[in-house]
Amino acid sequence: MKKNILVTGGAGYIGSHTSVELINAGYNVIIVDNLINSDMEVIDRIKEITGTLPLFYQIDIRDEKALDEIFKINKIDAVIHFAGLKAVGESCINPVLYYDNNIMSTLVLLKVMKKYNVGTIVFSSSATVYGEPERLPLDEDCALNPNSPYGRSKLMIEQILKDIYSANKEMIVVVLRYFNPVGAHKSGLIGENPKGIPNNLTPYLAKVATGELSCVNVFGHDYNTPDKTGVRDYIHVCDLARGHVIAVEKLLSSGYYVYNLGTGRGYSVLEVIAAFERACNKTLPVKFTDRRPGDIASYYASPIKAEKELGFKAKYNLDDMCASLWNFMLTEKSRGK
Ligand code: NAD
Ligand code: UD1
Repeated sequence: MKKNILVTGGAGYIGSHTSVELINAGYNVIIVDNLINSDMEVIDRIKEITGTLPLFYQIDIRDEKALDEIFKINKIDAVIHFAGLKAVGESCINPVLYYDNNIMSTLVLLKVMKKYNVGTIVFSSSATVYGEPERLPLDEDCALNPNSPYGRSKLMIEQILKDIYSANKEMIVVVLRYFNPVGAHKSGLIGENPKGIPNNLTPYLAKVATGELSCVNVFGHDYNTPDKTGVRDYIHVCDLARGHVIAVEKLLSSGYYVYNLGTGRGYSVLEVIAAFERACNKTLPVKFTDRRPGDIASYYASPIKAEKELGFKAKYNLDDMCASLWNFMLTEKSRGK
């Protein structure tokens, strides 16, 4: 019998790629999303890629009655919890919005899971919970010291999940700390194309390449890194998505598990720009500007624990990530987006 996986935030960037991987691996996917940062069209695109239309409910998961109804009519075997707000800058301006959305939605979800005896949850955490790195590479035991309300909401949810597990040791609780997810599905049908001016580097580069933005701003050229620009561990979103399927398949005994999902390799801003230029076959105008407040010079994962315990290893390199993003942008353009 196919297992039913409830994917909160499944219309979003990482959730949609994970839904595709889950369907391809033989799971029934049930998506709940309020579409606050995504589009209904994504659900059809998941069908276009996989041949299967996932069950979709447009609800806010803070709406306990609506969520309860979904658990009542569907037998849920496990939950993958992506739903949340994720813009660091916005979280500093409106922390209440972030704590309300991210924490309250998780509490409602856990309450309903308990009522219907659903004991497996995989949670989207972030490398941002580490804050300024204690040491590099960042392993799962490094100190946790997030420096924004967004990051603290992620850490608070990790703590809530740990408490829930302590109270019920039959549960399977998996915390995945993502490094920098980039790229898009090879079909070009799903990916990340934020409205307005993107905060993150690769969506910004993509809009410079399409001519929507005039030049790339390199935030800081005075870091203590090989080429003096910021270094990050970029991971292809399809690798990340596969990591979730592996977690659901391998972690079958009760426990509280924490894993980094990264490649273990850091790339500088200038290296990413060069890779994107190769992908789009254009030279992108670059301007060096001041550091972005709150940015860290360098961080990258130790991927060893995920590799040893889950057998997870990222397959794609930076060129693959940039090429897939560029392919997605071209597909978006051809669809008039
Ligand atoms: P996204 O915004 O594309 O997806 C999140 C989805 O959740 C959206 O479709 C949104 O509409 C939905 N959502 C938000 N609040 C909701 C609510 N209360 N009820 C129902 N649906 C709601 O973001 P993403 O990049 O796919 O990120 C997914 C998760 O991974 C988030 O929790 C994010 O914090 C975490 N994460 C993302 C990154 C990243 O760089 N993208 C890095 C680390 C962690
Ligand atoms: C940001 C978030 C982090 C989140 C991650 C998801 C902040 C402070 N942190 O991380 O919480 O988990 O996204 O991917 O927002 N850069 C430029 N020019 C740009 C944009 C970025 O030079 O226009 C540089 C940054 O200084 C950084 C690197 O590119 O060195 C990556 O930036 P970004 O893509 O925003 O990711 P992070 O800052 O690592």
